Amino acid sequence: MPNASPVIRILFVCTGNICRSPTAEGVFRHLTEKEGISGFFEIHSAGTDSYHAGQTPDRRAVKVAKKHGVDIGHQKARALAPKDFDAYDYIFAMDGGHFHELKERAPGKYRAKIDMFLSASTHLDKHEVPDPWYGNDKDFEDVFTLVFEGSNALLKKIREDHKI
Ligand code: 4NP
Repeated sequence: MPNASPVIRILFVCTGNICRSPTAEGVFRHLTEKEGISGFFEIHSAGTDSYHAGQTPDRRAVKVAKKHGVDIGHQKARALAPKDFDAYDYIFAMDGGHFHELKERAPGKYRAKIDMFLSASTHLDKHEVPDPWYGNDKDFEDVFTLVFEGSNALLKKIREDHKI
C-alpha cells in the first residue's frame, strides 16, 4: 500500500503546560488509541509561558486523569516556540487569553491554524477551559470533564474533515 494519509499534528496550548493542555494531550491521545487511529496523529502540548518548563504536570491534574484511566504523569512541560506555528497543523487554545496570544505571536500565514479547543463543542454553553491552578479538586475534576467532552468533539470533527 502506498503511504497512508500524512500524520495530523496537533498542539494544545495553555499557560503553564502543567494542567489544561497536558490533560488535553493525554485525553486526545487516549481517545485516538481507543478508536484505533493513533497512527494518524502526533499530539503534543505547550505553554504560552515558560515558568514550569521541564516539570511534570500538576499532581492534581495527574490524579484526576489517572482516576479516569488516562496517564499524563510522564509528560514534561515546555514553552511554545516560534517553530511550532509551522510544525503543527492544528493549534488549539484552551482559553481566550491563549487564543489572542497565539494569534498575536503567529506569523500571518499560520494564523488560520489557531482555534479554540472548545470550537467543536457546539453542544456546550462553554467556550473556554478555565484555569484550575488556584482552584480545588473539584475545579480539576471540572477541567477534566470539559477536556474530555471537548476532545471527543474535536476528534469527531477532525475525523470527518480528514475522512478517517
Ligand atoms: P495551566 O495552569 O495553564 O492549565 O497549566 C496554570 C499553571 C500555572 C500557572 C498558571 C496556569 N502559573 O501562573 O504558574
